[in-house]
Amino acid sequence: MRGLVLLLSAAVALCGAAPALEPVTCSVDGLETTAVRFAIQHINQQQDHGYKFKLSEVIVVSPTQKVQGCSIVMRVNLQETKCHSSDPKHFEDCEVRHAGGTVVMAGCVVVLSVQGDVASVVSHKCGTTKDEEELRMCPDCPRLQNLTNVEGLQRIGGVIRKYNVLNATEHYFVLSDVGRMSASYIMGVGMNYVAEFAMVETHCPVGSRIAPEACTPLCPDRARHIFCRNSENPRGSRLYCETYPAVNKVDLQPGMIEPTCHQLPRFNPAVQCTEGPALKDIHPICSWPRQPLRS
Ligand SMILES: *[C@@H]1O[C@H](CO)[C@@H](O)[C@H](O)[C@H]1NC(C)=O
Ligand SMILES: *[C@@H]1O[C@H](CO)[C@@H](O)[C@H](O)[C@H]1NC(C)=O
Repeated sequence: MRGLVLLLSAAVALCGAAPALEPVTCSVDGLETTAVRFAIQHINQQQDHGYKFKLSEVIVVSPTQKVQGCSIVMRVNLQETKCHSSDPKHFEDCEVRHAGGTVVMAGCVVVLSVQGDVASVVSHKCGTTKDEEELRMCPDCPRLQNLTNVEGLQRIGGVIRKYNVLNATEHYFVLSDVGRMSASYIMGVGMNYVAEFAMVETHCPVGSRIAPEACTPLCPDRARHIFCRNSENPRGSRLYCETYPAVNKVDLQPGMIEPTCHQLPRFNPAVQCTEGPALKDIHPICSWPRQPLRS
């Protein structure tokens, strides 16, 4: 067994992937890594929109011994990465955004409870902000647009329609999230619009007569997810997409029908989190426990 564990960790090291999470215990040694990584993993698992975040700095981690186990309160600063929440990549393997690409930070307070060898997140609360200084220093950098921007959403709709005609293989796809939209002026070319968005596979087979927009997404774990970046200016457009395979690839037995799931609301920037100031152009980290959605 031990040999196998060593082999596995060697394989992981070869791929340059993030090491597996270690169990969180109440001993003070190593809390800054074990407890902090556990907390950030939880935050990312709760994000069903926007991007994954990774650690920027640990401000404080303070454990308090309890009759059984301990509770751990920590303050951490996180930074938004370029990995969409549907990207299966481990958050620690994701690249952060650099100056000029609108850096987004989040200051979080996380409370963990550890009993025996079981750790759980009791709560997390984060304030998510854009780097405003960067915007002042770089007047020519692309400016984020509101996620409700009508022309931007129309452009994305057009890209998805084209994708369903030219590129969809088995089923049609529908929009599941808009990550970012930005606009910048390129000298001699004109306005350049960039949109990052996610699509989810639906029940509708390619070629069926149903309008793809009316199709219902497959259950999140049975669907393929696609994350795209589209840029458009008067000279033309460029689309780049990554496809993530379904998590649960088990084929249905003959006669079984594709299950339906409680679906997340279709992309709607007005229903992100209930708390905090409404952020119009970035995705905030929502609090845990999750507050009921504003509708
Ligand atoms: C985004 O929306 C906010 C609030 O509705 C508005 O004040 C702001 O001007 C909008 N920004 C852009 C770039 O449209
Ligand atoms: C879609 O299909 C076209 C035509 O086959 C191909 O040129 C293009 O690269 C594909 N686009 C994407 C995003 O997969």
